This record gives sequence, C-alpha cells and structure tokens, in this order.
Amino acid sequence: MELADVVRARRMVRRYDPARPVPDAVLVRALEAATRAPSAGFSQGWDFLVLRTSAERTAFWRAASADVDAPDSWLAGLMTAPALVLCLSDPEHYLDRYAEPDKGWADRDPARWPVPYWDVDTGMAALLILLTAVDEGLGGCFFGVPPERHVAVREAFAIPMTRRLVGVVSLGYAVPHPKSPSLRRGRRGLGEVTHWGRFGSPHPSPSPHPSPIPGE
Ligand SMILES: Cc1cc2nc3c(=O)[nH]c(=O)nc-3n(C[C@H](O)[C@H](O)[C@H](O)COP(=O)(O)O)c2cc1C
Repeated sequence: MELADVVRARRMVRRYDPARPVPDAVLVRALEAATRAPSAGFSQGWDFLVLRTSAERTAFWRAASADVDAPDSWLAGLMTAPALVLCLSDPEHYLDRYAEPDKGWADRDPARWPVPYWDVDTGMAALLILLTAVDEGLGGCFFGVPPERHVAVREAFAIPMTRRLVGVVSLGYAVPHPKSPSLRRGRRGLGEVTHWGRFGSPHPSPSPHPSPIPGE
C-alpha cells in the first residue's frame, strides 16, 4: 500500500478473528519495522516481548486485568487478539548511551532529559508495528496496562525491573467491531493544531489546509 493509504486506513482495531493467527512473517516484518524507528542518540533502548500462544496470552490477560473472567466488551474484544507485542523501554540504556564521550552527560542525570525519550522512541516503534500491520492487511491496537498491574505482568514474563511497560500492541485480522466512542470527538483540524511563526498565528494564506479526509 501507499504510505498515505496506510496512514489513512489505520484505526485501532479492538476485535479480531481468533481463528486466524498472525503469520510469523508478518510479525517479523512488523518487528523489523519497529527496529527502524528513530531513537535519541540511536540508543534503541527498546525491547519487544511477543506473546502468541494461547498459554502466553492467557497469562498476560490474567496478569494485566482483574476482569478476565467477566470481561466487558472492550476487554472481550481485545482478548481475541492472536498476538500481543509488549513494548518495553529502558531508561538505563539512554543514560548509558548519553554518558558516552560523543554525548558527554557523564553524570547520567535524568533531569537533563526534556521528556522521557526512552518512552517516546518506544512509542514511535509501536506506531511502526501498527502501520506495518495495516500494510499487511491486519489490524492492531495500542493500549496501556494499568500501573497497578505492571508488577504482575513483569513477574509473569521475567521482564527485568529496569524496563518500563510503555504499552501493548494487539495484532490480528479485524472482524467488525463498534467504533470507539472517543472518535465522536472528531479530528482536530490542521487550522486548530498548527501555528505558524508564533503560537496562535494561523497560516498566512486564507485556506492552506487540505479539505477533510474523505470518509471522516
Ligand atoms: C498512548 C496511547 C494510549 C492508548 N491507550 C488505549 C487504551 O488503553 N485502550 C484503547 O482501547 N485504546 C487506546 N488507545 C487508542 C486511542 O483510543 C485511539 O488511537 C484514538 O481513539 C483514535 O482512534 P484511531 O487510532 O482508531 O484513529 C491509545 C492510543 C495511544 C496513542
């Protein structure tokens, strides 16, 4: 698919055909794309934990949620995903990298970081997984694990304490599912979210922004 088509087609998919596993080649392609994400100082301080057997997925959901035995429709839908990719970031990796001579932050002080780039980079990698899934005819959803469940997830899969669970990408072949109520908010237009030259200043030309995306 063309990149523009992939970007437009991507929607978070929250219900999957459980009978159609994600082909290994697709998983590998998506993970390979993830490792092409940009990263501060080329630190690449990410890890991706792939769960695709029934036992692995069940262990994840039991660790990540208290409601697996009586799931609401959101959880029931996501639990149909045949593959899950846990996206982990590693702050230590960045502190080490930026203590190297070409960066020179030898004090390894986290206060030097404008925002947690370890999480930013892992998020960028997660987006590449989502886009690759769409390009391969699948769907995915990025979702967070409640903070109080991180220890259980960590323990279930021997995730080192140094790693942060940034989020999970579920993957699979989409089946019809209700649209997220969040989408009713509508997409904020370019005219609202872009500022030209100074915050709050519109683009100088009267209507520089493309017309709304068809179908939205
Ligand atoms: C950082 C982040 C966290 C998200 N967490 C969740 C989540 O926990 N559960 C969920 O169903 N969707 C989650 N989403 C998906 C958003 O709800 C979704 O991207 C948004 O409603 C726009 O819909 P679209 O991605 O289908 O265009 C998350 C998205 C991002 C970027």
